This record gives sequence, structure tokens and C-alpha cells, in this order.
Amino acid sequence: VLVKMVKICYLGAGYVGGPTMAVIALKCPDVEVVVVDITSARINAWNSKQLPIYEPGLDDVVKECRGRNLFFSTDIEKHIGEADIVFVSVNTPTKTQGLGAGKAADLTYWESAARMIADVAKSDKIVVEKSTVPVKTAEAIEKILIHNSKGINFQILSNPEFLAEGTAIQDLFNPDRVLIGGRDTPEGKKAVQTLKEVYAHWVPEDRILTTNLWSAELSKLAANAFLAQRISSVNAISALCEATGANVSEVAYAVGKDARIGPKFLNASIGFGGSCFQKDILNLVYICECNGLPEVAQYWKSVIQINDYQKSRFVNRIVSSMFNTVANKKIAMLGFAFKKDTGDTRETPAIDVCNGLLGDKANICIYDPQVTQDQIERDLAMNKFDWDHPTHLQLMSPMAVKKQVTVSSDAYSATKDAHGVCIVTEWDEFKTLDFTRIYEGMQKPAFIFDGRNVVNPEKLRQIGFIVYSIGKPLDLWMKDMPAVA
Ligand code: UDX
Ligand code: UDX
Ligand code: ADP
Repeated sequence: VLVKMVKICYLGAGYVGGPTMAVIALKCPDVEVVVVDITSARINAWNSKQLPIYEPGLDDVVKECRGRNLFFSTDIEKHIGEADIVFVSVNTPTKTQGLGAGKAADLTYWESAARMIADVAKSDKIVVEKSTVPVKTAEAIEKILIHNSKGINFQILSNPEFLAEGTAIQDLFNPDRVLIGGRDTPEGKKAVQTLKEVYAHWVPEDRILTTNLWSAELSKLAANAFLAQRISSVNAISALCEATGANVSEVAYAVGKDARIGPKFLNASIGFGGSCFQKDILNLVYICECNGLPEVAQYWKSVIQINDYQKSRFVNRIVSSMFNTVANKKIAMLGFAFKKDTGDTRETPAIDVCNGLLGDKANICIYDPQVTQDQIERDLAMNKFDWDHPTHLQLMSPMAVKKQVTVSSDAYSATKDAHGVCIVTEWDEFKTLDFTRIYEGMQKPAFIFDGRNVVNPEKLRQIGFIVYSIGKPLDLWMKDMPAVA
């Protein structure tokens, strides 16, 4: 238990910072937590009834702590100045220009944050790297801090976050592990101990791992790469299942029963999305290349290549099944978020599916329980950097998006008069839709393309649908259609 009230300042009020600090505030009444951000709209939302992110259980935690020992503020310099521990979790997008474009992490925000911390600090501070960053970033940050320190002692720690969106609160309450990396000096060990005591309020000691700085940084990149690799592995097998008549759910279940492999994270899908997996792997690939390890780089790159392949395979399947054209046909898209129980759309496979269908001139009507129309329009008009084919940039003008894309407030109106339905997010509510009603409202033949294996293909076939489910034996209909590229 801590003697003096520890003050934490968290830089970056995003998907990680908000939930993480809310849980620290809840579990540590003797710690004061202030989350700060340069975007005042975000801070205002954190201070309002309508939090800026949707995360099950988050509202209750924030309600309990906000105003007690949890605060949200734009007064960055004041709170950094007063803090004992400063967490930094600012954006680290993939570079789009210059050296390492398309692969390396863009540390602009990180560097400016570090310079600002050095600038305003008046007392010793522990600076904690929370956002995923390339290995040895901590060392670079340490240099910036020390060379600008004016006699203040900075200790840098790496404390990567492993929470997943949609289950963030549960993941924080009951983490598989907390990882803290620090310097092997007496001051470094003391800093590690200080942060460890914060987590020890609720996390069992044997789940708090301490390592050196680089191991902590690399563990985070490696963990995300391993997780993504499992998805690409099962997705690769899903393509083979479709070609051979095996069922990917049966295969994944049988494989996962091996205790050495384990049952989790083996759901075949339209491909992984989210702000982490692709970015972190690209990062890993870049670091390998910079360290003269092209074979290792190529191994991890293939995880992304299979992911891209899976997304385009899905689009090709839709177009080829529907007589090789979707021009002017209404396609209903159920889901848009990168996974269920979140409104986050960063790197969602839905964007690639939309772009593919729009390229074939489809009219798309989207329904997602948590994603706003505004967000969808922004995502589809966004200039997406294509890491492997920088010249193939596909860019829809906002006008064209408005013409070809509509957004619906429920699944039934989205699917009304549609030629095809595609399921791209595994929201629970899609499992219990009245598919007979949907079928009756659709054009015939009525197609359904399930990119998340949420529906029962046999039941839907009985209703009359032509069904495609990822990795499941193909409908006779699909077998007659030209091979998928
Ligand atoms: C991930 C890591 O899980 C988390 O530990 C890390 O801190 C951040 O990155 P997140 O991106 O929030 O978390 O979600 P996750 O549940 O990992 O899903 C990522 C993507 O993989 C989603 O698009 C999801 O639909 C997909 N996925 C996941 C599958 O396609 N199949 C699966 O079996 C699991
Ligand atoms: C393997 C499968 O484990 C088994 O289920 C299947 O029926 C037959 O193939 P086996 O080849 O007998 O069994 O041994 P295994 O323990 O899997 O090891 C295979 C190789 O991987 C060995 O050379 C082993 O040294 C190596 N290995 C295993 C590693 O390098 N690292 C590990 O973590 C595990
Ligand atoms: P994550 O998913 O890692 O939480 P987000 O992108 O959701 O990341 O959040 C990052 C936040 O960091 C954004 O809200 C952004 O406004 C904020 N940010 C970026 N640079 C700074 C900075 N120098 N100081 C404070 N906040 C910053």
C-alpha cells in the first residue's frame, strides 16, 4: 500500500487511456488519475453522459470514479507538471511518407509529447510508454528527456496494454498478465516497483511480470503478431475447406482441442481489423528489415498478405456468385465495426469490402448498431494508404460515397429489396434476426454472404437463401460459378 497519494497523468484520451485509467481509479482510491488530451471535443465527451467510446461496462466505472479520483482535462501542462507518473498513449500511426513509409511507426506525436514533458516537468517523473511502439523507442524517448531535463530525474518504463476492445473492462479487471519493463539500475528498479504497486491493488503478484525495456516493447509486438498469425492460419485453412468440402468450424475445433494449441482465437473470418494488428506487424516487419533479417520480415509479412487475400476473396465470392456483376444492385451490409461490441472502425475489413463492391458499382446499405453514419462516410472517403501497392490507391470522392452508400438504422430496412446481404461484423443481434422476414423483403434469388459464421447455413438454405459462409462447404450454386481469383 502506498504511503503518499500518487498522481498519475495519462496523455491520450483514447480507447486505451480512458478504460485503463478508469479502472486504475476504481481499484486505487488512493491514486489520483487525470486523463489529458489535446482534442477538447474528446475531453468534453469524457466529461459528459455520452462517453466518446462504446465499451461494455465502462459507463459504470466512469460514473463511480469521475470527480472522485478520476478527471479528464485539456490542461496538459498543469497535470503533467504535478504528476509522479506520466503515461503516454498518443497516436502512433504507420508512416505514409518518407523513410519507412507504409511500415515504420510515425513517432511524431510521441516525440512532441516527450519534449513537452521535459519542458513542463518541475519534479522527478516516471514516464510510462503505453502505446505500442517499435522496440527501442523507450531508449529514444529517454534520450530526449535526459538531454532536456534541467536536472530532473526521468525514469522511463514500458508497460504495454493487452486489453481488447469490446472486453476492455473485463480484461483490465482480470488481466492474463501485466508487463512492466524498466532499466536495471537502482532508480529503474524503484520506478518499476512504484508502478507495480499501483497494479498490485487488484492484480495478483504472480501476474505482474517485470523485464528489461526492450523485452517489454518486443513482447507487445510479438503477442499481437502471434494472435494475428492464428487468424491468418485459420483463414488460410478456410479457403482450403471451401475448395475441398471440409468445414472450418469442425477443423478449428479439432485443432484447438490440442492443449498445445488451445481453443481461443481460431474463428475464421473475413479478416482481422482493428488499430493494432496490421500496424504492429508492419512495424515488426520494418524492424526486422532494419536489422538485416529479411527472412523473418517476410514470414510476418505473409500474415498480412493472407489477411488481404481473405478480404478480396470475400468480395470476389460475392461478385462471382451474383452473375459476375453487382452494378446497381443493392447489397445490404450488416455490421461495419472491426468486431462486435465496439463502435471502432479503424482498419475494419468492412472498408475493404465496401471499396471492392463500390468498385463494381454496387449500391450499399449499411447497418451497424454502434457506428454512426458520419463515421462510415468518413471511412469510405478516406485516402487509404496501401502498404504493398502504393500506386493502387482507391479513393472515392465524398460525393460518390454519398451516391452509392446509404446507412440504415436497422437490419430489416437495410436488407429491404436487397439482392444480397453480407455479414461483416459478428454482432450478437444478427444471430437472432428473423431471416424469413428478411428473405421475403429481398430480390430473388436472395444471397447471403456470412463473413463471420454467425448464421446457420442449412437453416437459411431451407428458407430459400443462397448461402456462402466462410470456410463452410459451398452451396451447389457457388460450385457452378467461375473459380474465385
Ligand atoms: C488486439 C489484441 O487482442 C489485444 O491484446 C491488444 O491489446 C490490441 O489488439 P483488438 O484489436 O481490440 O485487440 O481486438 P481482437 O479481439 O484481438 O480482434 C482483432 C481482430 O481479429 C478483429 O477484427 C476480430 O474480428 C478478428 N478476429 C479475432 C478473428 O477474425 N478471429 C478470431 O478468432 C479472433
Ligand atoms: C509431432 C506432433 O507433436 C504430434 O502431435 C504428431 O502426432 C506427430 O508430430 P513429434 O514430431 O513426435 O510429434 O514431436 P514434437 O514434440 O511435436 O516435436 C517436433 C519437433 O519440434 C522436434 O524436433 C522438437 O524438438 C521441435 N520443437 C517442439 C521445438 O523446436 N520447439 C518447441 O517448442 C516444440
Ligand atoms: P489508442 O487506441 O492507443 O488509445 P487513440 O488514437 O484512441 O489511441 O487515442 C490517442 C489520443 O492521443 C487521441 O485522442 C489524440 O488526440 C491524443 N494525442 C495525440 N497527441 C497528443 C499530445 N501531444 N498530447 C495529448 N494528447 C495527444
